[in-house]
Amino acid sequence: MKKKLLAGIMAGIMALSLAACGSGSSSAPAAEEKQDAAGAATEAAAADDAGADTAAAADITTIADGVLTVGTSPDFAPYEFYYIDESGNPQLAGFDIALAQRIADNLGLELKVVPMDFDGILMELQNGNIDLGISGFSPSPERAETFDFSDLYYMGGQSFVIRVADKDKYTDYAAFDGLPVGAQTGSIQMGLAEENTPNANIIGLPKVTDLINELLSGKLEGAFIETAVAEQYIKNYPDLMIAWEVPYDTEGSAIALKKGNDGLREAVNGVIKEVLADGSMDEYIATAQDQASDEGNVYEGMLDENGEVQESADEAATEAAAE
Ligand code: ARG
Repeated sequence: MKKKLLAGIMAGIMALSLAACGSGSSSAPAAEEKQDAAGAATEAAAADDAGADTAAAADITTIADGVLTVGTSPDFAPYEFYYIDESGNPQLAGFDIALAQRIADNLGLELKVVPMDFDGILMELQNGNIDLGISGFSPSPERAETFDFSDLYYMGGQSFVIRVADKDKYTDYAAFDGLPVGAQTGSIQMGLAEENTPNANIIGLPKVTDLINELLSGKLEGAFIETAVAEQYIKNYPDLMIAWEVPYDTEGSAIALKKGNDGLREAVNGVIKEVLADGSMDEYIATAQDQASDEGNVYEGMLDENGEVQESADEAATEAAAE
């Protein structure tokens, strides 16, 4: 009962804060400015907005002929997650997936999305098993040494998440000295944890879903999570809250590519430019947020070998405790 009530209140607050985010941390304006500065290559790719012609015009190489293979970690609503359709089947959803589909369509390629843990994506890219990593990637300078990145398609920030019950106890990072603080393995949030809570017991977990479960069950005291994702989880788990925003130098999300795949990168930048300019990106974001807020029909994590959602032991325990 209490949970439901809180959920209602939180949903209201979230709706407000999402609306407020619309101008500040959403796609178009800021990302587009960077777009404009991105130079001649992008302009050339974008000059041709006639769908499949882009593929014909540019020199595009993909690992499988006629197919665009994309790696993603679907634990990251509203970027990527599973939405349970009317027949009860989990379908990949989120604005990254919509963007991937648009890129494939514009380039005249068939889209193949390969779900995997986040920390495997760059390796798969390096090994030539996927063409693109579309998974809310921050194009950090460290990564840019080894990988190429598209222009930015979304502007988001970073947050530190705690339990609502602890909000008076935890008012600064020093309070976390010696305590377990989490971040997703292989993410830039691990760096944020090391920088901001160097004396905490920093724990890397493969999925953001794991971070949420461990926060709920008390195994973690805090976690560094992308703001849009933290807001989305909090909407569905009102026992959690954003304690504060976390400054980070590399703003925004970009698509990761293997170094030197310039034809594909330019074509991708052309599509990004187009979706930012024609309002499609805002639509993808709105749809993703709507679906991600439909609590009963969202699944974040990997499917089992039968393509079914799997309930973790932690989740089952959390649900049992909430009854
Ligand atoms: N922006 C962060 C990074 O690039 C986190 C991305 C995590 N993405 C995901 N789908 N779990 O490291």
